[in-house]
Amino acid sequence: MKLVIHLLGAVVLVCFAVQTCARAIGGTPKLWIKDSTQKPLQDIVTWDENSLFVRGERIFFFSGEFHPFRLPVPSLYLDVFQKIKALGFNGVSFYIHWALLEGKPGEFSAEGVFSLEPFFEAATKAGIYLLARPGPYINAEVSGGGFPGWLQRVNGTLRTRDPEYLHATDLYAKSVGEIIAKAQITNGGPIILVQPENEYTGATSDIHPFPDPVYMQYVEDQLKDAGIIVPLISNDASASGDNAPGQPAAVDIYGHDGYPLGFDCANPYTWPDGDLPTTWRSLHLQQSPNTPYSIVEFQGGSFDPWGGLGFEQCSVLLNNEFERVFYKNDYSFGVAIFNIYMIFGGTNWGNLGHPGGYTSYDYGSSITEERLVTREKYSELKLEANFFKVSPAYLVAERGYASNSTWTSSTALTVTPAFANSTAFYFVRHAAYNSLESTSYKLNVQTSRGNFSVPQLGGSLTLNGRDSKIHVSDYDVGGLNILYSTAEVFTWKKYDSKTILIVYGGPSETHEIAFQGSTATLVEGSGPKISKKKDYTIVNWEVSSDRKIVKVNSDVFIYLLDRNSAYDYWVVDQALHNASNSVIVNAGYLVRSATVKGNTLALVGDFNATTTIEVIGGAPKSLAKLTINGHSTPFRKDKLGVYTAIVTIEKPNINIPDLSKLKWKYLDSLPELQSTYSDASWTSADLKTTYNTHRPLTTPTSLYSSDYGYHTGTLLYRGHFTATGAEDTLFLWTQGGSASGTSAFLNSTFLGSWAGTDVATNANSTFTLPNLVAGKPYVLTVVIDNMGLDEDWTVGTELMKNPRGILNYAVSGREQSAIAWKLTGNLGGEDYADRSRGPLNEGGTFAERQGFHLPGAPFEAWEDSAGPTAGIAAAGIGFFATAFELDLPAGYDIPLSFAFTNSSDDASGRATAYRAQLFVNGWQYGKYVHNVGPQTRFPVPEGILDYKGTNYVAVSLWALEEGGAKVEGLELVVDAVVETGYGGVETVKGDTWTKRKGAY
Ligand code: GAL
Repeated sequence: MKLVIHLLGAVVLVCFAVQTCARAIGGTPKLWIKDSTQKPLQDIVTWDENSLFVRGERIFFFSGEFHPFRLPVPSLYLDVFQKIKALGFNGVSFYIHWALLEGKPGEFSAEGVFSLEPFFEAATKAGIYLLARPGPYINAEVSGGGFPGWLQRVNGTLRTRDPEYLHATDLYAKSVGEIIAKAQITNGGPIILVQPENEYTGATSDIHPFPDPVYMQYVEDQLKDAGIIVPLISNDASASGDNAPGQPAAVDIYGHDGYPLGFDCANPYTWPDGDLPTTWRSLHLQQSPNTPYSIVEFQGGSFDPWGGLGFEQCSVLLNNEFERVFYKNDYSFGVAIFNIYMIFGGTNWGNLGHPGGYTSYDYGSSITEERLVTREKYSELKLEANFFKVSPAYLVAERGYASNSTWTSSTALTVTPAFANSTAFYFVRHAAYNSLESTSYKLNVQTSRGNFSVPQLGGSLTLNGRDSKIHVSDYDVGGLNILYSTAEVFTWKKYDSKTILIVYGGPSETHEIAFQGSTATLVEGSGPKISKKKDYTIVNWEVSSDRKIVKVNSDVFIYLLDRNSAYDYWVVDQALHNASNSVIVNAGYLVRSATVKGNTLALVGDFNATTTIEVIGGAPKSLAKLTINGHSTPFRKDKLGVYTAIVTIEKPNINIPDLSKLKWKYLDSLPELQSTYSDASWTSADLKTTYNTHRPLTTPTSLYSSDYGYHTGTLLYRGHFTATGAEDTLFLWTQGGSASGTSAFLNSTFLGSWAGTDVATNANSTFTLPNLVAGKPYVLTVVIDNMGLDEDWTVGTELMKNPRGILNYAVSGREQSAIAWKLTGNLGGEDYADRSRGPLNEGGTFAERQGFHLPGAPFEAWEDSAGPTAGIAAAGIGFFATAFELDLPAGYDIPLSFAFTNSSDDASGRATAYRAQLFVNGWQYGKYVHNVGPQTRFPVPEGILDYKGTNYVAVSLWALEEGGAKVEGLELVVDAVVETGYGGVETVKGDTWTKRKGAY
């Protein structure tokens, strides 16, 4: 190793290992460490130590993570963006999954559902700014952590400066970089931030140096060379300060992530001691004092592994209380770039996930996999995000110190203040953050009218268990100074004719608000004490579901709500990035848009029940016409000038087929067991060495599927040999990732299976062979489920290169070399057949190789069958197909799922081992492992299902036991019926079946 430092003006080139550098520089790659000046390359997106600015306007980038590749229905992007925008967010962060875009090295393709432009267009339409995160490594619970399978063949350590690895990333980085660059805000697009790499934070001890500035700079330069000029932001896996400004290979804005409650949804009510971050603010000041405090991913839910407990349980662990306590703690640190991972998880359709997860990627997040906004955590988040939209002082406030005594009367509480001129924010939580106590307290506020211990008019404040509050003082509401409010502010808006302020509290809490208005009268509800002091007025009340409205002076209306009622209120901006004329509506389930034109107000929203709508503010002064989802709706005006209308919901008739009554067809999908089957066209496993640098071969030729271009789905092996008669057993060591399974056959005889467990990533199996006849040829058929490729979180572990397939084998009494192996995965391997659904959607079973999962397959010619519930009588793979019409009413969002029945099969609770794949119009939208679980219900979005046409559905059934298997039950179920103003969803056009040349 030699260290060469070459000075080129301000540019420093550092090479450890000269040959490495020379080789890398020979091609396009440059190994430069640039002088980092931290000057923006454009002037639209800028920043200071407090926040970002867009076109000179200071913004809190409040964002949620949403992956387009997990919702392959481009016409639904806008739906999700609108639901995110309706939270009061202005941002979305998204990853790009390289493995889907470069299935074969050198062939980049981002077309059809993989095209990013529709995502950008929808973001623009919704008024959402984007943070683009192209990796190349993303983690994200996707196969290979984003790395295409062919990276298993790279002779170099992944995520390091090894030139082969760097070169492997070049085409992707350039191609995707250019796509991102075109959509930057500087070109009129929605992208304002780009993140190179992801959590480039941990490495094994043999990786020197680490973090390697040469590598990180390379990734940054790839993006810059592709034309990216918006700020680069990092996502350190912990607040370690890596690549922060001032460090080598600095990004523009330093950021880190945090998942404080972890990913174990087993005990959703347990919040372990000490899991609340407390040092992040001070670390930030040490590590990156000149950039906005940025949490580029903060826990919004959890992933869930095979055998896990299901996402409903994760949504309980990471629920509204979690948001209150943990997010408010982040605000107390002054977070100004804040991305919730995930806000909408979506689906690991078509094998895109890693083996640590199943088909659903619901994530227990605020928006469910079915795109519903029914979880309370969605509503809670809306209350929080809206507060910051109307509290500009938050972004410039100086952060004070957490204290257990200065600000409250109770030492059981910790209060962190923040001050901006006179305005103060008090972030209150239990000192023992996980306390379930109900703690009474008084708050010591410092105001321009003196210091008070509040409430002043009696009673005390309460923090009920897992809650946290943001109290304010000297808080400006459009010219009215709120001296203090213990009730939390949801929103306020000053209109020409009136000002609306909405505050809320938890059930039965006492709250107090004081303001410098001259008169205050109760105009709705009952109960509050109102007391006039010398130059301010105090209102004190007990929170109940009975709304109270206090009128201050002649034109300010303060709505005192309980939290549950506040959940139904929406603040709808009319302009994309401007809240000056937003409309405030009390409208239940969802409001997507509000448009005032002359004397008309047009509301667009979704209703899951008959709803009384109140337009609290922002309607034209003399409203002449109100339309709701395009329908003119009668309304009346009450004495406060609020317009009310009723949306009556009649649930439509929904006819969906009973799958068990349909005509099904059946095809044997393991014809390999028949003596007539020829594997002449299969790939010979003849590589004497492997390309894989991670695991040396223990077989005479490589049986690693990625050596031969097979990276996804079911793998099949055929081992030919001529018997000596001495063979007794077959030993197999197979690896497919967590919950994988293996079945082995000799000719048509079933030898046995490894059924799989949640944790086992690989298995040793020994099968007894029948008596073999000396001199006769035999063939072994081995089926292995590839559950996806492992991630590569820690640099140097090379876990992504964990091979799939047969790691070792032995036929007793024989040399290994007596067996000649062939293998197959998906037809064509890296030259995959179905361009429209990408490189991962289909695996290697016969029906898939033939494309029989695609619409248009010649299934009518197959055997009649009662369907997957009829099952198959012996170990093997069956393929069942049917078609049905849907004609669902327009104007409704009707999410549907395919639900497998799973009652334990026998009294002992032992579940028959079988695996099913669900194909809907060609898209693999479910991988069901009956003996592992947990997922049984597979949501399939409109757009994949054609709601006004024919749907082709196929189920593959791999029975791993002697006696075969039956699917216990399979139903199409309606998950919700929501009347929507969203508009039509286009059915995605994927390739249809044509006879595949050379398919075997
Ligand atoms: C983060 C990572 C994400 C995702 C997340 C867990 O550490 O950056 O990609 O894997 O963890 O869901």
